[in-house]
Amino acid sequence: MTRRSAAVLLLAITLAGPLPGCASGPSPDLYQAFGGQPGLVSLVDDLMDGMMRDPDLHPYFVNANRPHIKAELVAQFCATLGGPCEYQGMDMRMAHARYGIGDHEFNALVRALQNAMDGHHIPYAAQNRFLAMLAPYRDDVVHPAPPPRARPPLVIAPDAVAVPETVPTEGLGNKPSGT
Ligand code: HEM
Repeated sequence: MTRRSAAVLLLAITLAGPLPGCASGPSPDLYQAFGGQPGLVSLVDDLMDGMMRDPDLHPYFVNANRPHIKAELVAQFCATLGGPCEYQGMDMRMAHARYGIGDHEFNALVRALQNAMDGHHIPYAAQNRFLAMLAPYRDDVVHPAPPPRARPPLVIAPDAVAVPETVPTEGLGNKPSGT
């Protein structure tokens, strides 16, 4: 399957939901197709490197705790694929809510993941099963930009600060010395 048709498949699955009867759930075989735990650690390393090279994704991760995110991604990918792990990280909606991530960035991350999976020679059928499992996260990750924080109007009582109408010409302490 070409990259373009894989992207079309992912979009179709996102819109229509998983096909009934399709082998789409987690399984130990699928986890093994990704090389088990060492394969996932290496895949996520390459994914993060790819995201850091992508100008659309770089700003989101440059100041983030990347070792922590990578560890959580490994656990999440392992659990999603059917490996012997439990994801105990943040809820996806909570983790991403404050970043104002759009469809454009989500698609960029999917491309970075496809590139990393290609680099690891993961069979296309396994790639597509995994992408279909991640597709439902789109709704949790993509948020409109957060609204600007509304400031209450500044109200100053008319007599709060006494400002002289005119600046006094004397008594400013700058008389010549010796007088
Ligand atoms: C299928 C898509 C995605 C998945 C499965 C995913 C997964 C995760 C996971 C597991 C974490 C760690 C949560 C924790 O700290 O417990 C995380 C954090 C994060 N993700 Fe994503 N993510 C996805 C898409 C994106 C996209 C598209 C962006 C931005 C372009 C993004 C930016 C971030 C950032 C900045 C954090 C750090 C959050 C923080 O510590 O404040 N993610 N993501």
